[in-house]
This record gives sequence, structure tokens and C-alpha cells, in this order.
Amino acid sequence: MSEPFPDIDRARSDTRALPQLIHFNNAGSSLMPAPVSDALHSYLHDEEKYGGYETAAIRAAELDNFYASFSRLLNCQTNELAYIENATRAWDMIFYSIPLQAGDRILTSVAEYGSNVIAYLQRAKQTGAELVVVPNDDSGQLDTRALEQLIDAKTRLISVSHIPTGGGLVNPVVEIGRIAKAAGVPYLLDACQSMGQLPVDVKEIGCDFASGTGRKYLRGPRGTGVLYVSQTMTESMEPAMLDQHAADLISPTQYQVIDGAKRFENWEQFFAGKAALGVAVDYALSWGINDIQQRNTMLAENMRAQLSAIPGVTVTDEGSTRCAIVTFFCKQKSATELQRLFSAESINVSVSSGSGTLLSFRQRGLDEVVRASVHYFNTETEIDLFIEKLRQFL
Ligand SMILES: Cc1ncc(COP(=O)(O)O)c(C=O)c1O
Repeated sequence: MSEPFPDIDRARSDTRALPQLIHFNNAGSSLMPAPVSDALHSYLHDEEKYGGYETAAIRAAELDNFYASFSRLLNCQTNELAYIENATRAWDMIFYSIPLQAGDRILTSVAEYGSNVIAYLQRAKQTGAELVVVPNDDSGQLDTRALEQLIDAKTRLISVSHIPTGGGLVNPVVEIGRIAKAAGVPYLLDACQSMGQLPVDVKEIGCDFASGTGRKYLRGPRGTGVLYVSQTMTESMEPAMLDQHAADLISPTQYQVIDGAKRFENWEQFFAGKAALGVAVDYALSWGINDIQQRNTMLAENMRAQLSAIPGVTVTDEGSTRCAIVTFFCKQKSATELQRLFSAESINVSVSSGSGTLLSFRQRGLDEVVRASVHYFNTETEIDLFIEKLRQFL
């Protein structure tokens, strides 16, 4: 039985692309709801009418709202937040600022996002540090006992993805946080797929850093992202790159890094996106993140159950806790072919393959899978139609 969700009709009427489209690509880029899209466009119109700097001054409160909104979403202080252009750069700003030397160890997850793995390998090559991939347990989530055993005096960072890009797994991030804290090792969380689809409480998780993006489950604009850095870490960290927003040039030979996590920001930013992302976070909070998670779980489990009943279809989501991302492959047709067929029926899904999920897919012998990622504005009727179409394609 479906759980009640507050006013699904309003959630759908706020989403202007519906009902012509079935959007199961929320893990790629979700649909902006009307209040977010309107905020974005009205900001851009003001820039056209009044000028960019002038609009930033007039609409300063809306820009500032970014920090207030995320502090509520993530349970942190406003000065622990930075606005960055995407999740990857937010994550990079931390990872490339952590000093590493030969023999140091970075512990990561099998579910790790491809861009993060590339960065680990690059810094390992540059510094002689070692990348250690913590194995999964039988359910497919990071094995926390193995993590505990792998930590040693040379471990400089625990860096994991909360939810992978190509699967419904949710890693046990709170337990990882407990282990990191006990060992005194900094903890970097890639929360790109989790923010907006389930609670990300940085205090409860106990991470020192978390990165996120605007366009996915938060339903914000593309080209926007967020970085959380705990106050303690901010005070002791100098960003790998600085500009005159992040630091003040106080003499011809001296600069002073500014206080707070804004030291990780750029001077030039996508201002309209910042204002609109604040609105997107407020919008998500207005539904309630727990309610969103509950509905998403119901929809995703419904889809998994129906997919599993189709001969030749294998659902590939791992973990003891699963999220709104549903992945599968079919014996009869490739994921790319299926995406094309769905697209012709105005059903958006994506294909996960290649770099994004390489560690996990190589281990499991997977090549490419269909990723059908639901969000709370989707319905059981849409899922039924999707399943009916899939049966026809096969
Ligand atoms: C787990 C994970 N981390 C990071 C990213 C990168 O996000 P962005 O494209 O905003 O940099 C993605 C994007 O798909 C992702 O799924």
C-alpha cells in the first residue's frame, strides 16, 4: 500500500513538464518545480534590466538565503557552507586541499564516483599516497568492520559516496562517521545523490565535509552545488586555490584567508542559480525530507518488484538500505537501446556505464544498466505504464 504524501496533486501541478512526460531521470537532473524555475528566470530578467552587480545588491537577501536554507537541510551553521558550481568541484576543493605525502593512505568505497577515483589516482601519482578500496559486505554496502581494520597510522582520509551514481545502494554513513571519529581521521562524504532524496544530517553522520549538487534530487538549476565544511576543519584548512573572494590581499606580499567555508568559493558565481537553489532547498523542506524519502522508497520498491517479475530482467541495486535509484539490465536488449525506446515514448531514463561506476561494475561484471530514478512527484500509474512499455519492448 502506498504511504500518504502531502498533496501529490500540487507536487505534480508545480512540475510543468507533467503529465506529458514521465521523468525517471532524477538522479541525472530532476525537473525544476515552478517556484524554482520562476525564481531563476526572474533573477536573470533583473540582471538583464538592472545589471549583474546591481541585481546582486538588490537581491542580496535571496542570495544569502542559500546559506540559511542549506543550514536547515544539512543541520549545520551558515558559515560552514560554500556555494560551488557543482558537486565535483565542491568535493575537489576539499580533496585537493588535504596534504598528502608518500605512504599516506586514502580509504574509499567500491561505490565511489568515477571523478573522485580519478582525483585519488592523480594525487596518488603526484604524492606517492596509496588508495585503498574498502570491500563491501555481503549486502553490497561498505563493510564497516573491514573499514575499521584498514585504518592505520598512515590513514589521512576516509572518503565515501553516500549513494553511487549507478545503483540504489545507500552506504552506512553514520556508522562510517562513528569509526572515522573514533580513529581521528577526516571524513569526506560525497552526498551528491542523497541531498534532497533522504535526510543528510551532517552532525548525525559525523562527516567533516560533504559535497552536493543542485540539479538532481534537490530539483535546483544545473551548474549549482554546495560544500559543507565543519567549522573546526575550516579553521585549520587552507584551500588549494584562492582568489580575492576567498582571501584578502593585505599588502603586496601578504594575503589573509577569510573566515568560514566561503574561503572555498569563487568570486564569480552563477548568482541566479544560487538564489534559485536556495528556493529549491526551501521547496524540498516544505514537503519534508522524511516524507520525500518515504514516498521515494515506496515508488522505487514498487518498480523493483515489477521489474523482477519480468523474465530476462535483473535488478542490480545493492545494499541493505535502498534509495530512489533503480537499476537493471535485460537479456533481450541493451540499456542504450532501451533508453532510446523509452525516450521515443516520452519516458526519460538514463544509462549507467563507464567511468561513473567503474569500480563497482568491474567487480560485478556489469557493463551498462538502465537507471530509472524516481522522485516524489512520480506516481504508481507512471511506473505501471513504464513496466507495460518495457514488456512490449522485450
Ligand atoms: C555520486 C556522485 N558524485 C558526484 C557526482 C558529480 O556531480 P556534479 O555533476 O554536480 O559535479 C555525481 C553525478 O552524477 C554522482 O552521482
